[in-house]
Amino acid sequence: MPSIDESDTYRLGNRTVNRLGYGAMQLAGPGVFGPPRDRDAALAVLREAAASGVNHMDTSDFYGPHVTNRLIREALHPYRDDLVIVTKVGARRGADASWLPAISPQELTQAVHDNLRNLGVDFLEVVNYRNMGRIHGPAEGSIEAPLNALAELQHRGLVRHVGLSNVTPAQIEEGRRICEIVCVQNHYNLAHRTDDALIGALARDGIAYVPFFPLGGFTPLQSSILSDVALGLGATAMQVALAWLLRRAPNILLIPGTSSIGHLRENLAASALDLPQEAMMALDGIAASASAA
Ligand SMILES: NC(=O)c1ccc[n+]([C@@H]2O[C@H](COP(=O)([O-])OP(=O)(O)OC[C@H]3O[C@@H](n4cnc5c(N)ncnc54)[C@H](OP(=O)(O)O)[C@@H]3O)[C@@H](O)[C@H]2O)c1
Repeated sequence: MPSIDESDTYRLGNRTVNRLGYGAMQLAGPGVFGPPRDRDAALAVLREAAASGVNHMDTSDFYGPHVTNRLIREALHPYRDDLVIVTKVGARRGADASWLPAISPQELTQAVHDNLRNLGVDFLEVVNYRNMGRIHGPAEGSIEAPLNALAELQHRGLVRHVGLSNVTPAQIEEGRRICEIVCVQNHYNLAHRTDDALIGALARDGIAYVPFFPLGGFTPLQSSILSDVALGLGATAMQVALAWLLRRAPNILLIPGTSSIGHLRENLAASALDLPQEAMMALDGIAASASAA
């Protein structure tokens, strides 16, 4: 069982986590709508991630809905002291598996209570407000009302730290005027680099940046440049994509998602992969060719 590099850490709220973590969304089942494809395998993936040193896991009660949180609880409760579970609110699932906004104070409060109950905890360490809209980019507009509701839940002690997901720089600024923002979770990977400047700005302020779809999401990244670099290093394309993110900026925390033990092991081994400067330069060309396409 590969162990991750536990000397490579970053601050998340008032906790320190290993930069290579795990995203649980893929465990919920096809279309992120339960039941899971293989329940026992899902539990095994969670246990092996934790045993390999992963102490930052990303989830939501709208994965399933209610599926991934219950799997996490079954696999890992009582939780190790060093495990930071990050969840998100702001959406609900329709009966047809659609993703719908759920941002009224009542809906956000209900979502926090659902997360507390299904994870089996008294407070949530980090809650991201997930700005709905397009999956590939944030919806513009004020997030003041839902963030005020989340800040109130923080005030009541149900939420320790607040983060933001699928947001613009302007929304992050607005959020930071309402409460401390400890992390931003946006779409970012080798081929999708809208947030290049934002990542640096957040790093200067000590805010973690957590890319979702680090491997490309439902359609994993495919690029001849990536394949060539991986071949040259004796690694897999997915390992190179993760190693590039680790090297890209110190405040990037990874949460690659998988429902497969084999893929989990492969992804965790990326923490030991050293990318030479020439490889970094070649990989930077992927975004240029993606934007030209
Ligand atoms: N805030 C948001 O709006 C938002 C949106 C999306 C995701 N997220 C979070 O971000 C996490 C990561 O995103 P994600 O899971 O959607 O996408 P991802 O990590 O970019 O990629 C997951 C996909 O890649 C496959 N995969 C994983 N490891 C692989 C490997 N070594 N070789 C080949 N294929 C591999 C997975 O399939 P297998 O299961 O077969 O391995 C799955 O189809 C999620 O788990 C979730 O916690 C947040």
